[in-house]
Amino acid sequence: MTQDELKALVGRAALDHVPGGAIIGVGTGSTVNRFIDALATVKDRIAGAVSSSQASTERLHRHGIAVYETTQVERVPVYVDGADEIDRRGHMIKGGGAALTREKIVADLAERFVCIADESKLVDVLGRYPLPVEVIAMAAPQIARRFAEQGGTATLRRNGEGAAVLTDNGHPILDVRGLVIAEPRRLEDEINQWPGVVTCGIFARHRASVCLLGTSEGVRTLVF
Ligand code: A5P
Repeated sequence: MTQDELKALVGRAALDHVPGGAIIGVGTGSTVNRFIDALATVKDRIAGAVSSSQASTERLHRHGIAVYETTQVERVPVYVDGADEIDRRGHMIKGGGAALTREKIVADLAERFVCIADESKLVDVLGRYPLPVEVIAMAAPQIARRFAEQGGTATLRRNGEGAAVLTDNGHPILDVRGLVIAEPRRLEDEINQWPGVVTCGIFARHRASVCLLGTSEGVRTLVF
């Protein structure tokens, strides 16, 4: 199967984790896009969605699915999202699509985090994928220096025209290469203390409850 077919497979499989009548949390990215398309086929069974990005909101609206603000919802039973990397304890790196802050906010409302990913995302130790960190622009150089002290190389994410990529919240992103994240919870907590960090792309405090992993043999379910 192609990577796209694996994404479609896990997108459909996630429907089994969507309780009827509920407002559910919806993440961002190419895998989640397949989930949203699958959700559209059962949209009358849910009350609506809370979205983690403008892109997902637009896709949900195009399918006629009601989208609620996070301010209108106290809890959601489930949050479905992809990952850039996931380890065997459910810790993830996220933010490759620049939506990490809103993803963590919606994940924080959820009882369960259902991660959907193709098998290329499963790793023993996080860090091969550059760690995204959303920052306040004026603090970017000093945050980059702190990462250098940890053995990482932080670079400002830029688009094809060379301009800094800004998140839906208007902030730039540092992508940090060269980290070996053996203790995700400890590093997430440390980075969160640095002035100017908006959101660190390590999801350890908000790790997955379950991962639906697309493999050539079908969907493998990892429970954490
Ligand atoms: C968005 O900011 C990310 O956290 C995505 O969830 C992650 O990059 C996975 O995206 P794909 O499903 O496109 O690989």
